[in-house]
Amino acid sequence: MSSFVATTADDTEAFRIKYLGTKGLVKEVMGEMKNVPGDRKKEFGQLLNEFKIFAEAKYTEIQSLTDNKDATSENAGFDWSLPGDPLRTGSRHPISLVRNQVVSIFQRLGFAVAEGPEIEDDWHNFTALNMPENHTARDMQDTFYISQNPDWILRTHTSSVQVREMEKGKLPIRIICPGRVYRNETISARAHCFFHQVEGLYIAENVSFADLKQTLYFFVQEMFGKDFKVRFRPSYFPFTEPSAEMDISCLICGGTGCNVCKHTGWVEILGCGMVHPNLLENCGIDSNKYTGFAFGMGIERITMLKYQIKDLRLFSENDVRFLKQFTAAT
Ligand code: DAH
Repeated sequence: MSSFVATTADDTEAFRIKYLGTKGLVKEVMGEMKNVPGDRKKEFGQLLNEFKIFAEAKYTEIQSLTDNKDATSENAGFDWSLPGDPLRTGSRHPISLVRNQVVSIFQRLGFAVAEGPEIEDDWHNFTALNMPENHTARDMQDTFYISQNPDWILRTHTSSVQVREMEKGKLPIRIICPGRVYRNETISARAHCFFHQVEGLYIAENVSFADLKQTLYFFVQEMFGKDFKVRFRPSYFPFTEPSAEMDISCLICGGTGCNVCKHTGWVEILGCGMVHPNLLENCGIDSNKYTGFAFGMGIERITMLKYQIKDLRLFSENDVRFLKQFTAAT
């Protein structure tokens, strides 16, 4: 007992339990009294009583020591009501911020979020989208193939999610599909082997090109404010007919011409069009009854325009000095 060293309140409590607790040593030896022969009970009783008193005194002693220690240590006088050290919170990645913003703008128009796999098969990424084998449009998207299975690829666009939703056959469809896509491109300030897209799809009865334009006008105004011009240019995509691309006047130079807009004053921000009837039929939807529009945009492109970022590689370098500049409010 004398060698017991108590430095904390926990040690003191451990001492109490060991010697004075209901299953402690003092109780235990007291219990032995019944085995002591009658003529020696008195002698033993006195001894045990001394042991008990000693243990209690020792307990009081170390209790006061540890109590005092707490009171006199460096903690004494510490103001426990002071606020704690602030926890540093992280910041969201700019790509996530913009993706969330795009999604919430379309959610306000009644679009629901849909997702699909990043490892896709040929049918969903190409064939069902009106790009059969040997179609030249496949060359526009340099594809990563998966060596174990010639039918598997890393999806080159989120248009594959359109096909998966249409195949479910539940109409009308009004979805927005954010996700990561992959292309076998040399990494540079303007291209990367992976990036992010948002795909939109609306299929119902009597959906028109006017609906498409109005939806996208609403989107760009919500996204970039009102201080710019918008134009639609005729284009070609195998999965839409007619097809268009949407440009906005360059937010960096205000339309007078700079490197970002390649001195044209315009920046392309998305591709779109009316869903090709072949797609509807490929997915078992009656193309005489239903029509629809689709669009697809690169999130990196939108983010670069919004925050005036000139190099795509910054998004994947994980440089905290870059990342911590972005907050949800901006
Ligand atoms: N999938 C196209 C791409 O990755 C983007 C796109 C264009 C999607 C037109 C669409 C669309 O849905 O209608 O380049």
